[in-house]
Formats: sequence, structure tokens, C-alpha cells
Amino acid sequence: MKITSIQPELIRDIPFLNAGRGPGGFYRDTLPVHRGFVDTLPDGMSAIIATADLQGRETFESAGGKPLRLLGEVLPAILADEIIPNLGLADGRIGVLLAGDFYTVPALDKRGGSGDVTSVWQAFADEFDWVIGVAGNHDLFSDAATRPRFNNPIHFLDYDTVTVDELPIAGLSGIPGNPRRPWRRTEEDFVEALQLLLCDSPAIVVMHDGPDVPNFGFRGSPRMREAIERSEPTLIVRGHAHWNEPLAEISNSTQVLNVDARVVILSKEVL
Ligand SMILES: [Fe+2]
Repeated sequence: MKITSIQPELIRDIPFLNAGRGPGGFYRDTLPVHRGFVDTLPDGMSAIIATADLQGRETFESAGGKPLRLLGEVLPAILADEIIPNLGLADGRIGVLLAGDFYTVPALDKRGGSGDVTSVWQAFADEFDWVIGVAGNHDLFSDAATRPRFNNPIHFLDYDTVTVDELPIAGLSGIPGNPRRPWRRTEEDFVEALQLLLCDSPAIVVMHDGPDVPNFGFRGSPRMREAIERSEPTLIVRGHAHWNEPLAEISNSTQVLNVDARVVILSKEVL
């Protein structure tokens, strides 16, 4: 599966509240929704939605006086009710790829807080046909940074692969770092795990951290990129570090889709 283009104009900018440093420091921000095209999708599928790093909460208007929900809790219904119906997609299944980091503290007074994101995964599963993803370094499930038990059609991945709609999708949670901290393995172990996943030639690899793309000045891990470049070309979906553009290609023709703080809806190219 190859991404042939990402439309330069956004489909939509969704307002949300971003956390600030200290009480009252939060500010209004927007989540860009992009449309992209792929050369092929499995039979019966109409789109794949990819997103990560939705570290914010809904606006006061959207909450209507109730506690502010996580951006990732409200986004699936906005996509399903207001955005997808206007795209002229063929009928078919819609899958979701979640590349991690969906929590923000309720008071929006601290950046980089950790907390339970189970409800975000569930909200995507309520609206779409399957959800496959990995944990970001700030994600807890219930109160633990351990593998959650989700039921089909939600598939949590951390150094494993699942095949849905005939697409083998591999996933690697977290970031390189001190293994005593949540969702971290040493860089050595991280790169080795990635290499082993790549051996089975997955169609897509979902990861939270991921390769850099030095030609574009896009941040990430050079060692992960080198491991990917030594393997069969694939499509990497990653988050964690913000890039100015969502898509880049590295030297072995692997495409890297960075969905940090954005949504990309991929459907088949209309000829
Ligand atoms: Fe992260």
C-alpha cells in the first residue's frame, strides 16, 4: 500500500483546548484533518484513519457545562458524523490506526501528563470497524502502563503483528529510554524489536516514536531509520515528534506518515 498524495488543503481544522504550563495557561488550538490517497486498499475497505498525540481536551462549547472530555474521546464522532459523510467515499469498512499519546490532565494546567486512554480507543471502536494501535509514552490503560486487554475489533500492539482485512500490521509501543520508566526499552532493544517486526514484511508498522528524515530536517531516530532502510519497503505510521509535513520517504522507498497532532484520512485514489 503506497500513499500517492496528501491533499495540500485541509479538510477541516477542529478546535480544541491545549494544556498550558500552570493554572489557566491552556489555550485554544486546532487539530488539522488531512485527506490522503493510497494506490490500493483491501477489498471492502473504504478508508483508513490515522492519528496520534491528541494531547488536548474538547472546548467549553462542545462540553456544554460538563467536564471536558479528551480530544480523542470526541474526535471519532466528529469524524463519523460531520467529516467522513462529505468525502464521497465508497461504502466499506473503515479502520483506525492509533500511534499513541492520547492523554491530557483534566485541568489543562500541565503538559505531558500521563493517564488512562482506554476511553479514546473505545470511542474509535464505537464509530469505526477496527482499531489497531500502540501506546505512547504517556498512555496508561486503567492505571497501568501495561498491555491492555481489548476485545476484537480493537488490537493493541507492542512488538507484535495482527492481520486485519488481509493487511499485516505490526506495532511497537513507547519510546527508547530507561526500561524502568513506562513504555520504554533501551534503544538497543527498541531497534532490535523493530528489526524483527520488519523481517515479516508487514504492510504497515504503527509506532509511537520512529525514524528521522534528515533530508527534510524531520526529527526522530537515525538508528530506527537505518534499520528500516535495511528492510523491505513498508509504510510507517508514527507520532511523538511534530513534523511540518505529514509524509516523507526514506531511501529504501519506505513512506513515513507522521500523525503527531493531526488526523490523516486515507482512501483510494479516485481515477
Ligand atoms: Fe510521546
